[in-house]
Amino acid sequence: MDRVQLCLTPIFFLVLVPCVARGTNALGLSYDFYNKTCPNVEKIIHNVVSQKLLEAPVTAAGALRIFFHDCFVEGCDASVLIASRESNKAERDAEINLSLPGDGYDVFFRAKRALELQCPGFVSCADVMAIATRDLVNLVGGPRWEVKKGRRDGLISKASRVDGNLPQVNQTIPQLISLFKSKGLSTMDMVALSGGHTIGFSHCKEFMPRIYGYNSTFDIDPTMNQEYARTLRSPCPQRHLDPTVVALNDVTTPFIFDNAYYHNLKKGLGLLASDQMLVLDPLTRGYVDMMAADQQLFFNYFVESMIKLGQVGVKTGSDGEIRRRCDSFNN
Ligand code: HEM
Ligand SMILES: *[C@@H]1O[C@H](CO)[C@@H](O)[C@H](O)[C@H]1NC(C)=O
Ligand SMILES: *[C@@H]1O[C@H](CO)[C@@H](O)[C@H](O)[C@H]1NC(C)=O
Ligand SMILES: *[C@@H]1O[C@H](CO)[C@@H](O)[C@H](O)[C@H]1NC(C)=O
Repeated sequence: MDRVQLCLTPIFFLVLVPCVARGTNALGLSYDFYNKTCPNVEKIIHNVVSQKLLEAPVTAAGALRIFFHDCFVEGCDASVLIASRESNKAERDAEINLSLPGDGYDVFFRAKRALELQCPGFVSCADVMAIATRDLVNLVGGPRWEVKKGRRDGLISKASRVDGNLPQVNQTIPQLISLFKSKGLSTMDMVALSGGHTIGFSHCKEFMPRIYGYNSTFDIDPTMNQEYARTLRSPCPQRHLDPTVVALNDVTTPFIFDNAYYHNLKKGLGLLASDQMLVLDPLTRGYVDMMAADQQLFFNYFVESMIKLGQVGVKTGSDGEIRRRCDSFNN
């Protein structure tokens, strides 16, 4: 990543000089941002996160999804953590967000509270999200990577800004690619990050159109493993559907962060239409095959893409603020 972000400034046409200090990227993020102000930041967050994961294993998936949504709406600035007030319907309450689980939010709030005891006022909620999410992915079997820090917390959180910034299961691959591209992420980033669906759950309504009355020819989506589709019908009945029921995103190894998600796609075991299409569309199929063939390769790409995701629209320097509480602005 450093290679890409080290920007070079031409001086007198001949000499190229790095325009930013080593270890600090063009955005102003750096590995040692809290060395003086909160040297134990990573340890403090790690302790909270591992404790929370023991209490609630669903935390990892919830947090990963919340982090992704935060970065896609207003950039990675913890705007997604802001609670609504009478005067402001916040991002969190946008319709699309109603399914984001409480444990994911809770782990970020807890980590911030622990930090406020040891280094009050220094560590942004946006950095807490990036570090805690990294730890959670790693703790459930995924790769680990170093997180650059220095993100500032946003001053805007509006439900009305969510629309159009988050992907939906019924979008086409070209539509999804263009959404990711608008955030600076490539098609390969999109395929690698979709590997996040190797953990976690989806509510019935997200895949019901695939398993009942799919189209005038097929009752069940013919691209779906038919037996798999039928097993999904019993927890998700057409009548008297319980809207809280969820299905596993990765039916093979649901709680382990691995590359089974891509193997599933090749067998028609993708839960969401947007998952299954990744292996059907020639624009993305090659990447699915790559990730399925070699888990280490998937991890390498996932890490690279998570680092890119964690830099989408970040605020640094004197932009934004360092929130005292993650769920409300300072003023
Ligand atoms: C490519 C477009 C994507 C679409 C259309 C999509 C859609 C969805 C949907 C509909 C759900 C189920 C939500 C629910 O019913 O509660 C879900 C869950 C999830 N998504 Fe995505 N997603 C996409 C990409 C991503 C990315 C890039 C990540 C992160 C790297 C991600 C991480 C997750 C996780 C971890 C869950 C499980 C959440 C939980 O168990 O609480 N998704 N996604
Ligand atoms: C910051 O702390 C880390 C870990 O203790 C250390 O490896 C690094 O060299 C430090 N950087 C600076 C600039 O002091
Ligand atoms: C996808 O579904 C939503 C409602 O769930 C609908 O508003 C939207 O128009 C659909 N988008 C596409 C591309 O079909
Ligand atoms: C039904 O869906 C299948 C698979 O997506 C497609 O090939 C077929 O053309 C569709 N049929 C109709 C009538 O839309």
